[in-house]
Amino acid sequence: MGLLVINPDGEIVTSNDAASGILGYACRTFEGRAWGELFLEGSGNQAFNQVILDVIKEKKVNLHRRVPYVQPGGKTLQLSITGSFLREDDQIAGVVLILHDVTELQLLHDREKQVLREKHRMERERAEGLTQLAMAIAHQIRNPVMSIGGFAMRILNKIDGNSLIAAYLKNILSDAERLEAIVRVVSEYTRIPTAQPVRVSVSDILEREMVQLQAKAAELSKRVTWSLEFSAVEFVVDPVLFRRVLYEVLLNAVEFLKGDEGSVTIFLSEEKNGLLMEVVDNGVGIAEKDMPYVFDPFFTTKAVGVGMGLCFARRIISEHGGNVRIDSEPGKGTQVIMRFPDQMPRP
Ligand SMILES: Nc1ncnc2c1ncn2[C@@H]1O[C@H](COP(=O)(O)OP(=O)(O)O)[C@@H](O)[C@H]1O
Ligand SMILES: [Mg+2]
Repeated sequence: MGLLVINPDGEIVTSNDAASGILGYACRTFEGRAWGELFLEGSGNQAFNQVILDVIKEKKVNLHRRVPYVQPGGKTLQLSITGSFLREDDQIAGVVLILHDVTELQLLHDREKQVLREKHRMERERAEGLTQLAMAIAHQIRNPVMSIGGFAMRILNKIDGNSLIAAYLKNILSDAERLEAIVRVVSEYTRIPTAQPVRVSVSDILEREMVQLQAKAAELSKRVTWSLEFSAVEFVVDPVLFRRVLYEVLLNAVEFLKGDEGSVTIFLSEEKNGLLMEVVDNGVGIAEKDMPYVFDPFFTTKAVGVGMGLCFARRIISEHGGNVRIDSEPGKGTQVIMRFPDQMPRP
């Protein structure tokens, strides 16, 4: 740790060897010399000098800054400086500077940042590669599956509908339909566009989506008591993708109600750094053993389900830089907590 004390006349009155070392001077060259004469003239060390000038001007105590410093030999260091204004009985006694050479630390930090950037780039490339693979597989499976289904249907139309062969064919048909649904949802997943966020009234979007869900609930013969606990909220999101998240989460809340009725509550509020949305139902809940898998692609506990809903929701939320969490008590209900930050992450 380097130490320098400068008196009100600008003279260096105290310094230690570490200070000379850090600043690139031989030991004991400082004592009695003027700070201005040593550092101010012709040096490229404005940021360094500015710390001292600011301490004096603003009479600061513990002014802390990290600045670059070029030694007389030309070597550039990163210094962490703490400067304090000294008073003695209301008299200006000088300025104390404490210097740390944090060049190595800064290099390490830069290198860490670079490694992290590289890691993100590789992850992105890997995700893009997987998406392309999924897209290609979905494309390759679509045609054979459609012909399997189509031919099964044609044979079924030609034979006795009550025969054993007809029962086999019906199985083939329903599995082909299931495969078609998977192919459809996978190709949809690979085509999720990048978010185009704009400032919108999320409460309006929510109210409109509710109409959709009420119709869906009626279709499923579910009697739902809806509670909306929010006032008008504006936020920056991609409205189309945001609706998709709402749809998937609200649909789950309706589908997993106990029997044919229950309640769904939606909270929406602005937080310090973003938007908080919660969907709470009093349905069947999620078994503890299933909890780790609910966001996985194709995980479903429905008899006929694709299991991509939460996968879609999470992908969209994380594209907005947000996160989603699910709490559930089996037999009591489920709570989906979603947070969207003010600032979207830059790609
Ligand atoms: N609100 C909820 N209540 C109970 N279980 C839920 C709820 N939301 C999600 N789940 C569980 O998570 C699974 C995956 O959900 P999702 O990805 O939407 O697929 P899907 O709706 O096609 O099953 C569901 O099958 C269910 O087991
Ligand atoms: Mg679902």
